[in-house]
Amino acid sequence: MRNALFDWLVQALRGVEMPALEARLFLQKTQNKATLTRYVARRLKGEPVSKILHRKGFYKRDFYTSQDVLDPRPDSETLVEAVLANHPDRTQALTILDLGTGSGCLLLSLLDEYPHAKGVGIDSSDKALKVARKNAGKGSRARFLHQDWRCLSHKLGTFDIIVSNPPYIPTADIAHLDKEVKNYDPLCALDGGKDGLDAYKELATILPTLCHTQTDIYFEIGKGQQAQVKKIMARNGFHFVRAYQDLGHIIRVLQFKK
Ligand SMILES: C[S@@+](CC[C@H](N)C(=O)[O-])C[C@H]1O[C@@H](n2cnc3c(N)ncnc32)[C@H](O)[C@@H]1O
Repeated sequence: MRNALFDWLVQALRGVEMPALEARLFLQKTQNKATLTRYVARRLKGEPVSKILHRKGFYKRDFYTSQDVLDPRPDSETLVEAVLANHPDRTQALTILDLGTGSGCLLLSLLDEYPHAKGVGIDSSDKALKVARKNAGKGSRARFLHQDWRCLSHKLGTFDIIVSNPPYIPTADIAHLDKEVKNYDPLCALDGGKDGLDAYKELATILPTLCHTQTDIYFEIGKGQQAQVKKIMARNGFHFVRAYQDLGHIIRVLQFKK
């Protein structure tokens, strides 16, 4: 792709970490110089490429993304892999619940792997649910419901697998996050309250009604939160099964059972 447009774009993007890679991503979307100039201006202000192009790769496919949802993160693939490792029979007709579904990346990636499974994704953000539905497409085995887990009004029933990547950043830490995160991911996807654990405390109280005796629960957690999350879950009658590390060797996912 060594042409004049590419060289111009790399030069224009020289303030970012990987200008050649980003230039290639932009050129895959358009070769129109006026559009590319607008992309560069947004990028140099700190907007992530994923938000400009509305596309982020997660697990095995691309997801539509926008400022209404958390960009799917490589760390969260740990959760998908943990579920797959524990449920190796891909023909199972599993029922899966995703609490705080955002873009739908966790639930939809799991449904891709279990062709007979079906799932429900809930989120308190209507705008996020529009993104999740767009990612699901027609004929999806996922249902997306506008629900706040602090006051569930739908009778959801029980599920074989429950997954959640809730907001877990302590409020005071948000100001110190990268500009790409704090300015472009929605606050409702980040803010976990004073100690970052509000969502786990809330979820632990509603989980009993959503579990049968064999239900497996998988939580994504922030760095160093494992002891506190285990304590919250134990207080609510759940026992810890296993921890899973992400690619950076940080404990990222905890598995629990009733
Ligand atoms: C960290 S994002 C995770 C999104 C997606 N599951 C992922 O892994 O990329 C957390 C999501 O939880 C949703 N959320 C936060 N509080 C909620 C609540 N009380 N009830 C339902 N959803 C909530 C947010 O709107 C956000 O979409």
